[in-house]
Amino acid sequence: MGTGGLGVRGRVEAVLEARWREPGFTVPNPATYPWQWLWDSCFHAIVWSALGRADRAVAELRSVFAHQDASGFVPHLTYWGEPGAAEDFWGRPMTSSITQPPMYGHALAVLARAGVRLPADLVASARRGLRHLLVDRPRIDGLVPIVHPWESGCDDSPRWDHWCPGGWSIDRWYDVKGVLVTLVDRDAGGVPVRSDAFRVAPAGFNALVAWNVRELLDVVEPAPGDEGLAAGADELADALDAQWDPARSTWIDAGDAAGSSGGVRTVDALLGLLVADRPPVVARAFDALTDPAGLGAPFGPRGVDRREPTYLPRTYWRGPAWPHLVYLSWCAARIHHESARVNALADAMLGGVIRSGLSEYWDADTGAGSGASPQGWAGLVVPMLTAVP
Ligand code: GLC
Repeated sequence: MGTGGLGVRGRVEAVLEARWREPGFTVPNPATYPWQWLWDSCFHAIVWSALGRADRAVAELRSVFAHQDASGFVPHLTYWGEPGAAEDFWGRPMTSSITQPPMYGHALAVLARAGVRLPADLVASARRGLRHLLVDRPRIDGLVPIVHPWESGCDDSPRWDHWCPGGWSIDRWYDVKGVLVTLVDRDAGGVPVRSDAFRVAPAGFNALVAWNVRELLDVVEPAPGDEGLAAGADELADALDAQWDPARSTWIDAGDAAGSSGGVRTVDALLGLLVADRPPVVARAFDALTDPAGLGAPFGPRGVDRREPTYLPRTYWRGPAWPHLVYLSWCAARIHHESARVNALADAMLGGVIRSGLSEYWDADTGAGSGASPQGWAGLVVPMLTAVP
């Protein structure tokens, strides 16, 4: 790591330190995102670990699971200190009533590989959270559905345009997202299980579920139920394989948008790389990720392929590069021993982080920052710069 990298590390440390909150989590950005978000916290835990603060990483993951219910469901938002903040909206105090990608499997694996002895309660919570997604949600074409666009973490992705009659606009989609919360089908305990109004099992979300299972199982002592988890991850990986579209070099979402917006070429759809094992598919997907005519750009893969008519280089989820997706692309490159791509993605991340001032997302061509700034997950640059090859 050069001096630029060392400077970045100090900056990340200062930002995360200033955002540390009781009872033990990092706010992504105090002005724009003053609460706890599930996948942000998992990414923060990875950053804390790289900063040598395993204590913080463990505490942050523990607070992620603080409101996990008996089914294993983990809410995506926790309103620490202000339990009534969105109670009317979610129909419950303290937390949201939908989830987000279960990045805790990978976060725990990162900790274990750093030599941290994983607390048994965290491992048990992670197993239960993953089992819940694999078992309790009725699959679509073998894949796990989400019940709301926010569950994907990619809130305004063009993959959801099928559900935005009249064409996507920020305001129109904002209204649709509000209505979709009211249309989620829940079990008797209020646990979200499906939505007929938003029937989709996204490629990216499923890749993350399967990969998080595999990551967790890679580092824990075998326990009863693990075979089921492993089989579930294999099922998702196989079902995902069937969604590969060689013509568009992407994995297609299952569900009602499979023939329309579910095939828009986005970076998150290429997270299938985390679990794909057919060499020709892997090669094509990596080419798609880095092709300058499509997703490839100097400051990290674009969020959306520039050839898509919906591509907007500076608009939230419609084109910019996102640091956590650059990080996940880098993880995929490491898995497949693509060392040149590993280095290129780390360079792109460092460039984007520096130019944007640790922004929530940035223009993939110029590095100009957008959204909240600085944002906690930009700190993922630290593990990318310090990882052992
Ligand atoms: C936005 C993002 C979501 C993230 C949250 C907090 O809602 O779309 O993925 O978790 O901000 O950073």
